[in-house]
Amino acid sequence: MRSCAVRIVLLGAPGSGKGTQGERLAARLGVPHIASGELLRAHVAAQTELGLEVAAGLARGDLVPDDVVLAVVGEAIVAAAESGGYILDGFPRTRAQAERAHELALERGLDADAAVYLSLDDDIARQRLAGRAEGGRVDDADAEVIEHRLQLFHDNMRPILDYYDGLGILVTVDASQSVAVITETILAALAPLAREDA
Ligand code: AP5
Ligand code: MG
Repeated sequence: MRSCAVRIVLLGAPGSGKGTQGERLAARLGVPHIASGELLRAHVAAQTELGLEVAAGLARGDLVPDDVVLAVVGEAIVAAAESGGYILDGFPRTRAQAERAHELALERGLDADAAVYLSLDDDIARQRLAGRAEGGRVDDADAEVIEHRLQLFHDNMRPILDYYDGLGILVTVDASQSVAVITETILAALAPLAREDA
């Protein structure tokens, strides 16, 4: 498989398709998919010290503190970036996380090439999450928790979008389209960025 040294941040509401597109893009571009929520849920499942610390917050749909998330994803991002690139899903979630990640990456010359915002109407997001609830994610099971996750997304996302827009790397994609069309739209937008030097 062709491998491209491309570093992409996927942004979007709960249910916007970050995980779905993250997996597909990672497979197509030959870089790891790093999902902050998946890494945190793995800690909870393994009952690590960190997992025990964050479990209740995850179940309530709260954001995990910035320092904790950085500890969980920071090493994975640097390792992936140094070995060819990454698709980052679910991070950053706050402007502070975005700024901290940018500083760390700049120190290593490994900053993101593009931030892809999967733009989706809340009602469609609600339907998708309700449809997934049987899949077993504790934060999908309760409508109030889903509303809380959506509210936190709206509270935090605008400054993050402004931040990446200011860096000139924001790409917005209509996430109400089919899974396949979204993937192709993102790949087309990224085509000028992909470097075959990984
Ligand atoms: P996280 O795991 O990141 O969850 P989320 O943002 O709530 O998003 P989801 O994973 O629910 O949705 P998604 O966008 O990945 O969509 P998906 O592809 O699954 O975070 C969970 C928690 O961890 C947070 O609440 C917080 O507590 C903590 N956390 C994580 N990162 C953090 C951070 N950086 N800082 C602080 N706390 C953090 O798709 C959803 C469904 O829709 C699926 O069933 C899928 O099959 C379907 N679907 C996808 N695309 C389409 C399409 N185009 N058409 C039709 N159906 C589709
Ligand atoms: Mg996800």
